[in-house]
Amino acid sequence: MDALRQKYLDAIAAVSEEAGLEDLRVQAVGKKGEVSLKMRELGKMTPDERQVAGPKLNALKDEINSALAAKKAALADAALDERLRTEWLDVSLPGREARQGTIHPISQVTEEIIAIFADMGFAVAEGPQIENDWYNFDSLNIPPHHPARQEFDTFYMHRDAEDDRAPHVLRTHTSPVQIRAMEKTGAPIRVIAPGRVYRSDYDQTHTPMFHQIEGMAIGEDISMANLKWVLEEFFAAFFEIDGIKTRFRASHFPFTEPSAEVDIQCSWVDGQLRIGEGDGWMEVLGSGMMHPKVLQAGGVDPEKWQGFAFGIGIDRLAMLKYGIPDLRAFFDSDLRWLRHYGFASLDQPNLARGLSR
Ligand code: PHE
Repeated sequence: MDALRQKYLDAIAAVSEEAGLEDLRVQAVGKKGEVSLKMRELGKMTPDERQVAGPKLNALKDEINSALAAKKAALADAALDERLRTEWLDVSLPGREARQGTIHPISQVTEEIIAIFADMGFAVAEGPQIENDWYNFDSLNIPPHHPARQEFDTFYMHRDAEDDRAPHVLRTHTSPVQIRAMEKTGAPIRVIAPGRVYRSDYDQTHTPMFHQIEGMAIGEDISMANLKWVLEEFFAAFFEIDGIKTRFRASHFPFTEPSAEVDIQCSWVDGQLRIGEGDGWMEVLGSGMMHPKVLQAGGVDPEKWQGFAFGIGIDRLAMLKYGIPDLRAFFDSDLRWLRHYGFASLDQPNLARGLSR
């Protein structure tokens, strides 16, 4: 028994990996281990012999088990020490910078515009960016061969040669939302509809995708005077400039009669865009009294109701307000541009506090 004891204690001391310990445990005290087999022999002994051998064997088994446990703990400690010695962190290094994203000027300006019109009782409506030509054209009094269809530089959705359904288009303006809102709510109604619109056009002040906000107010005695007041009220609040000059120009749209386009006074000095000064004008919206046929297309009785509508170019307003000279840069996703012109995420437009800072 002493030999057995010495053999296993030496072997355990010599082991350098946890796997070796397990092998030894099986060999010594496992079901068919040497110590276990010895214990089975107890049955063949006389009671006196058993009295002596039994406790000794049990003690041996306990001794080997605790030697195994102690060695296991020692190996784990050594492994941990080794890791602590080799793995280390320099907690004095500067942290990795977590860049905050910014709110795109278009999103910011859209929220500003919504806040101003909400204050005048306008609700927000929406429509799809892929429209059928009824909503984008026909319902707005632009029949199939009307020249306005050409003027719009429309993007048409692909149709297979044998597919003769009326075309779908990327909406060229937010005006189709006029019809959708009338269908949904009827009259009286006061809504604005912000969103993306598409035209095949590209230069310093045009991109193939841009943003508009449609406005529409229908009532029993809405007039051009209400339109002018609402727009002037809007520009004063939006630009926060007293006496900002606007120019209402007689114009033509198939869906309004009479119609007016509105320009804002501005100038370009050394590539810098400035509003409210100089002798330049930037067109920012189209407007007018809703055509009876448009009211009718939306299910509103033109004998009883009349309304005004306007469509504002959001991107143009953002350029003017924040002095951004080139529209194309809005959609380049250049991080330097976004960080420069973007807004902090907590800088929510709020009429009471002032719209911009
Ligand atoms: N839909 C017109 C455009 O995109 C703007 C407009 C809207 C004009 C509403 C009049 C009334 O040019």
